[in-house]
Amino acid sequence: MKSIIAACACLACLASTPALAQFERTSDAFEYRTAVFTVMDHHFDRIGDAIKNKVPYDAASVASDAALIQSLSRLPWVAFVPNSRVGDSRAKPEIWTKPDQFKAIADKLGPASDKLVDATKGGDQAAVKAAFVDLAGVCKECHDKFRAKR
Ligand code: HEC
Repeated sequence: MKSIIAACACLACLASTPALAQFERTSDAFEYRTAVFTVMDHHFDRIGDAIKNKVPYDAASVASDAALIQSLSRLPWVAFVPNSRVGDSRAKPEIWTKPDQFKAIADKLGPASDKLVDATKGGDQAAVKAAFVDLAGVCKECHDKFRAKR
């Protein structure tokens, strides 16, 4: 019985993610978004390596990496809650003083990853590369403006 209740609670939580994601502490929000970025970056690098032929190009694995990025690309934004520049956060204050500018770039990441996923379905490596370069441009645009240098 307990496990059924736990499973239901878990499903309810999945259904409400990410729009209603809640964080008890600002440090939880910081950890959540950096964890998402870290995993996203891992799959991003894997595609990058395949495109640069550092590893053999495996279309199925590129498609799976792209699908993960597509899901993850929607997640970090809800975790930029006020006062969450904690620990070694590199989030710039402008995220909160210019929220419209931040959101405008954040909103591009999902559609850019959708295009990457579409490209991986077409089997054309050049199209995958073009979509990947566009996606990388969105990461860079935001990092240049809203992420502090180390
Ligand atoms: C709309 C803005 C925005 C976009 C788009 C964006 N990032 Fe970031 N990213 C940030 C900010 C801000 C931080 C710093 C968060 C913090 O330290 O609190 C960050 C941090 C990171 C980190 C460091 C995580 C850590 O452990 O400290 C990685 C890696 C990363 N981003 C990868 C990516 C990749 C890859 C993409 C594109 C596929 C991307 N980001 C797109 C804003 C963005």
